[in-house]
Amino acid sequence: MILHIARMLRSQKKHISFHTPGHKRAGEDITELSYSDCLLFPTGVLKRAEEDIARILGGARSFLLTDGSTSGVFSMLYALRTAGIRSVAAPVFSHPSVFHALEALGLEFVPVVQKTAYGLPLQPTEEEARAALARAGALLLTSPDYYGNFPELAKMRALCQGEKKPLLLDGAHGAHLHFIPELYAGSYADLWVDGVHKSLPALTQGAVVSAKAEAWASPLHEGVLHFRTTSPSYPIMASVERAVKYPRNLSLERAAAEFKRENGCVCNADWTKILIPFGKNCDAAQKFLEERGVYPEFNDGNYLMFYLSPCNRERDLKKLGRLLRGLPRGEVGEDALSGHIPMYTEKE
Ligand SMILES: Cc1ncc(COP(=O)(O)O)c(C=O)c1O
Repeated sequence: MILHIARMLRSQKKHISFHTPGHKRAGEDITELSYSDCLLFPTGVLKRAEEDIARILGGARSFLLTDGSTSGVFSMLYALRTAGIRSVAAPVFSHPSVFHALEALGLEFVPVVQKTAYGLPLQPTEEEARAALARAGALLLTSPDYYGNFPELAKMRALCQGEKKPLLLDGAHGAHLHFIPELYAGSYADLWVDGVHKSLPALTQGAVVSAKAEAWASPLHEGVLHFRTTSPSYPIMASVERAVKYPRNLSLERAAAEFKRENGCVCNADWTKILIPFGKNCDAAQKFLEERGVYPEFNDGNYLMFYLSPCNRERDLKKLGRLLRGLPRGEVGEDALSGHIPMYTEKE
């Protein structure tokens, strides 16, 4: 598959720079020039990259983001407001960007109850979502969450369709799932974000926000015009295009499933999230692993979480498995849901 942005960057001619960026070095870190297109209203290489991305992700329109999923969340909620929606139902353990965007846009937050079990936030049930959606103009869920759990996507889609209200999915942790349609946000949502930099090989902050139907494309474009930088990073954009086109790593997916079965991991549906209960031994386990060059994504006081992407090697899992053998596990405590997890607080 052609990598439009990378190809353009490679084929640049040497020139004297009377333009930003101030480092004046030729290379990948260029600005929007006559040949490199303009992200706000693309007509050239960025347009072609966004069109390919939309085709792969199944949207009518996809927008490159160099400001993380955060700007995608803000843009989606802006699109809702443009359409006259004034209140949004979202789970209480949504990411802070959701609460910040709602507050900044003057949208009412309608909490969707989220229970916890074994120190984990559970995804809301259909009934919990229905109760909140009755008082809101749209539903915004996280899919998958940081622990690799999914809402009941088909039911949530049917619920929103029945109520004629849009479904938004925060897929900050699900960009790798476009290969698995039954788990992919874009198979269900009207608007969704892919946090490409988290689970695919893109540079940090690289993300995409997409609209399923043409009707949402223009309000979403309005949103990205408000919340994207006007100085987008070409290295990030090129890496997002490459990451969305990056091949599936089925053998690693299978190795991850086997690893989870053999190592007493939490049973979740997202192959990239390996969750191991250590309870009170979390800190000691993290220290032991880090001293041996193995770094988890987070330690929430109950679990260590190991975050995979198609770029991990199977030998990474083998090493982790070997090290885990000598490590004592511990009971997880209900009360350990901690500041490591984005949480709704009364203040917000
Ligand atoms: C569920 C969720 N949504 C949104 C975000 C924001 O993503 P980013 O850091 O790419 O802006 C995060 C970040 O961790 C997240 O966990």
